[in-house]
Amino acid sequence: MSKEEEISIRDMTLDDLPRVFHIGEEIFTSERFPLMYRTWDQFEIASLYTTDAEFCVVAERNKKVIGFVMATTIRKPRSAWKYGYVVWLGVKRRYHRHGIGERLYREVERRLEQAGIRMMIVDIEQGNDEALNFFEKMGFNTKKEFIWMTKTL
Ligand SMILES: CC(C)(COP(=O)(O)OP(=O)(O)OC[C@H]1O[C@@H](n2cnc3c(N)ncnc32)[C@H](O)[C@@H]1OP(=O)(O)O)[C@@H](O)C(=O)NCCC(=O)NCCS
Repeated sequence: MSKEEEISIRDMTLDDLPRVFHIGEEIFTSERFPLMYRTWDQFEIASLYTTDAEFCVVAERNKKVIGFVMATTIRKPRSAWKYGYVVWLGVKRRYHRHGIGERLYREVERRLEQAGIRMMIVDIEQGNDEALNFFEKMGFNTKKEFIWMTKTL
């Protein structure tokens, strides 16, 4: 498959949600993303889709969804800035490195910029080098460390 072949980028619809959920289950596995996996569930997707449908976009090939991005906006109290937050971005593994993640990201960034966003945020689990490299390529350049702590009860 060449980089741009047959792939269309379009709004996510309600009918896409089960497929998006299953692609996420394949990608965000507990082995690769022990923390991320816990929040990938149908409620998360349904709630993001309800509040931020305009920032939910899919990539389609031969009428099948093969990738998606879901983003939201964050406003801080006493700040004029609104942030765009890429909550989930995923492409089916067999289609990686064909420019699909980039097309999805660019589309959601364009929409967020039109909505007045001037700064983008994403969080990436340590060791997820493909995503780190990807977002660096997309122009993200400020890294701040954030430490997750867990406690088993
Ligand atoms: C991150 C992800 C969405 C990238 O999707 P993709 O369609 O493969 O990315 P693209 O083909 O558009 O890559 C664009 C650029 O990002 C960089 N990149 C992407 N994957 C990379 C990898 N595995 N190693 C190094 N660089 C990579 C490259 O610079 C690439 O450009 P190039 O292929 O011309 O060198 C995909 O790897 C994925 O689904 N990962 C699992 C889920 C995840 O971690 N999501 C992010 C956090 S929510």
